Amino acid sequence: MLPYIINTMRNVKTDILLACRDGLNNYDEIVDLIDRAIVDNPGNSIHDGGIIKVGYDVELDDYRRISQDSKSMLQEMEESERNKTGIRSLKIGYNKVFGYYIEVRHSGADKVPAHYVRKQTLAGAERYITEQLKEFETKILGAQEKIISIEYNIFVEIRNHIKEHLTQIQDTARRIALIDVTASLAEAAATYNYVRPEIRTNGGIEIKDGRHPLVERMLTSDLFVPNDTNLKHKTCEIMVITGPNMAGKSTYMRQVAMLTLMAQIGSFVPAREASISPVDRIFTRIGASDDLVSGQSTFMVEMNEVAQILKYATPNSLIILDEVGRGTSTFDGMSIARAVIEYINKKVHAKTLFATHYHELTDLADNDKSGKIKNFCVAVKERDNEVVFLRRIKSGGADKSYGIQVAKLAGLPKSVMRRAETILKELEAQGSASSTKLAAAAQNNDAAVQMPQQSQSLFHSQLAEQIANIDVTTLTPIEALNTLYKLQNQARKEIGISE
Ligand SMILES: Nc1ncnc2c1ncn2[C@@H]1O[C@H](COP(=O)(O)OP(=O)(O)OP(=O)(O)O)[C@@H](O)[C@H]1O
Ligand SMILES: [Mg+2]
Repeated sequence: MLPYIINTMRNVKTDILLACRDGLNNYDEIVDLIDRAIVDNPGNSIHDGGIIKVGYDVELDDYRRISQDSKSMLQEMEESERNKTGIRSLKIGYNKVFGYYIEVRHSGADKVPAHYVRKQTLAGAERYITEQLKEFETKILGAQEKIISIEYNIFVEIRNHIKEHLTQIQDTARRIALIDVTASLAEAAATYNYVRPEIRTNGGIEIKDGRHPLVERMLTSDLFVPNDTNLKHKTCEIMVITGPNMAGKSTYMRQVAMLTLMAQIGSFVPAREASISPVDRIFTRIGASDDLVSGQSTFMVEMNEVAQILKYATPNSLIILDEVGRGTSTFDGMSIARAVIEYINKKVHAKTLFATHYHELTDLADNDKSGKIKNFCVAVKERDNEVVFLRRIKSGGADKSYGIQVAKLAGLPKSVMRRAETILKELEAQGSASSTKLAAAAQNNDAAVQMPQQSQSLFHSQLAEQIANIDVTTLTPIEALNTLYKLQNQARKEIGISE
């Protein structure tokens, strides 16, 4: 391919391609050598022969001919000996003990030439050997071994010869690799409508109508919905992204990371317009996986990664956090998620995209004094208890995840879904109070999120039940006094005050 590549590169103008081209070399001599010497499909081992082409080495060809044509060569020799001696009964034969021999019946004994050496006498015939036949024998028997060793030696010789050009060949390979990468990026850019990003140093990442380069290619029935990004240190450093399952949160976040990476390696990007500041690293915490062998559960893996990110991220980093805190109980997870965002906001100052189903976290942006945390959600429409995904990222928070509807799409059994809906309704009725409390607690006290006191509700239920059962209208004053006394005793017991 080298002559083709060199020819194709004749008219390049860009510095990077010129630099690639000017060190390219054809290696005609090596190509020619390999072409003449090595067969097109050699075997896997250099110790089994079958590597060197016919016509490359005279000695090798001789041995090959011997090994392949031994039969016909024997016939030729037999024919010519018969003619030379005039013995019509002359035969060449072979046995394991004596090897090759010339056999002459006694009737022809007087015509046997002097250089025939007697080897064996039979009842009706004599067997001889000649110098020529001896040579032939050694050649045939050793031929196969010889072939393998000659091929090996030639191969090693050629390899050593090529080795002398090793550094140049490696250099050419590197140039070809760079041309390959550049050409591939250019082809993708042209084929899939990428644009040239503007490289900035203001720390911002601004993308108009950005697309995920792979997801947009994989979609068959739907069109990919492009989305904007506007990360700026002063006004939008942390994007808290909420929205239903399957809405496109993860896709969007990775899209931003990929476009940043693509811009930084010198590629065009799938967008209508982009201006991107290079980042020092892209940190991601995505998906659920464990590493049991090295002693890490799913949650440990997740937390370890978060720990690394918080430790090493700088204001010039880009952080992608996809549902941090979901591997543990809701309150623990939500508390960790909130604390992580607060830490990034106060200490790290990296551009961050944070997707979450903890809708309570949207109040972080609402109460953020720095003005750097912003809420975004992925738009959906609800129609007859079904969700329609619009895939549009917009400002503001979401308050529903539509998890059950999405699970339905995945084909969970109907009875499971019905039961889930009932449970959800019950939980929503009970739960709204406690989650509001949790959010309130977080606002009042940055450092610690207060857990609702479970024991309180137990206390309420027992005493409250008794009070509720008293029929006040029929109670005499004495009974009322006694009842009050009993209730007070019980209340004291329950809160641990002895009489
Ligand atoms: N902008 C888009 N245009 C078209 N299709 C999209 C777009 N974004 C995502 N999708 C499709 O939606 C699917 C789900 O997206 P994604 O995994 O990003 O959702 P999610 O909001 O992260 O959901 P979950 O909360 O369940 O993790 C993708 O596999 C993709 O096929
Ligand atoms: Mg996701």
